Amino acid sequence: MKTIGILTSGGDAPGMNAAVRAVTRSALAKGLKVKAILNGYAGLMSDQVEDMSLQSVDNIISLGGTILGTARSPEMESDEGQEKAVEVIKKHGIEGLVVIGGDGSFLGAYALHKRGIKTIGIPGTIDNDMGFTELTIGFPTATETVVDSIRRLRDTSGSHGRVNVVEVMGRHCGDIALYAGIAGGAESIIVPEVDFSIDAICDKIIKTRARGKKHHIIVVAEGVDNIPEIVNEIKEKTQNDTKHTVLGHIQRGGSPIYKDVVMASEMGVKAVDLLLEGQSSQAIGYKGGKIFNMPITEAVKTKEEFNKELYELSDVLSY
Ligand code: F6P
Repeated sequence: MKTIGILTSGGDAPGMNAAVRAVTRSALAKGLKVKAILNGYAGLMSDQVEDMSLQSVDNIISLGGTILGTARSPEMESDEGQEKAVEVIKKHGIEGLVVIGGDGSFLGAYALHKRGIKTIGIPGTIDNDMGFTELTIGFPTATETVVDSIRRLRDTSGSHGRVNVVEVMGRHCGDIALYAGIAGGAESIIVPEVDFSIDAICDKIIKTRARGKKHHIIVVAEGVDNIPEIVNEIKEKTQNDTKHTVLGHIQRGGSPIYKDVVMASEMGVKAVDLLLEGQSSQAIGYKGGKIFNMPITEAVKTKEEFNKELYELSDVLSY
């Protein structure tokens, strides 16, 4: 193998740049040429390809977002899109491709593998919704950002004696809500994975208010149905001023924390090593402090397990 390509795809996540840097620097050190594909699979299909040098990745280690640009590209699911992608890959002499992204991006990598291109997937999404790996790049930083926001809301919540409902990202996965909720000391955490009772949530607010608690933080994951209705119900049942804050894309930006940078760096190096070994259609994951790889087909089939024990703990701790 002489030339590899790298792209970021799907929603951006803090730490993606650290992975781009690691892939580029380790590949160049091992005598490979590196080509960046800009703007995800969409950029691949429209031939947006640039040479990478040691200097291309100078000073990006702590930058949020992705310097390569990213996109969600449904065209990559079609035969036509995949054929176009393979054509561009071959035109640039790219023999192996590192894809940094979520499940959809991994499926794109698998499609290219079936068409004869060696591919490796690095999990990059703030959602932490990929069951095969304990952590995805971006999740630790996004969670830290949410904890910071909860702390700010807790100040004003306590000053005014309000209930503050914080809506966080995660698509169908409640991990950001769970971990940020625990770290932020939320009174209740509402996630799509666990049934909940508004009455129990309101009862807790009323009881803890009666014992003198002034702040009330409810963290809700965006995948839960009818969030504005939940907010209204809390307001009516507790007769408390209740505010709804949607954190939105703020969670996707910012400098990655050390965990994301270290993990992304290790994963980037591993991706290059796997390509040099001749491997393909491999997903890189993180478990028990170690980096590992497994076939993409198995990785995308692994169901995400929600940490119910931790979830139950959160209720006891916040009375
Ligand atoms: O997958 C990452 C994520 O931030 C989800 O948490 C969220 O539902 C979605 O992307 C938002 O997508 P977009 O950036 O297209 O608005």
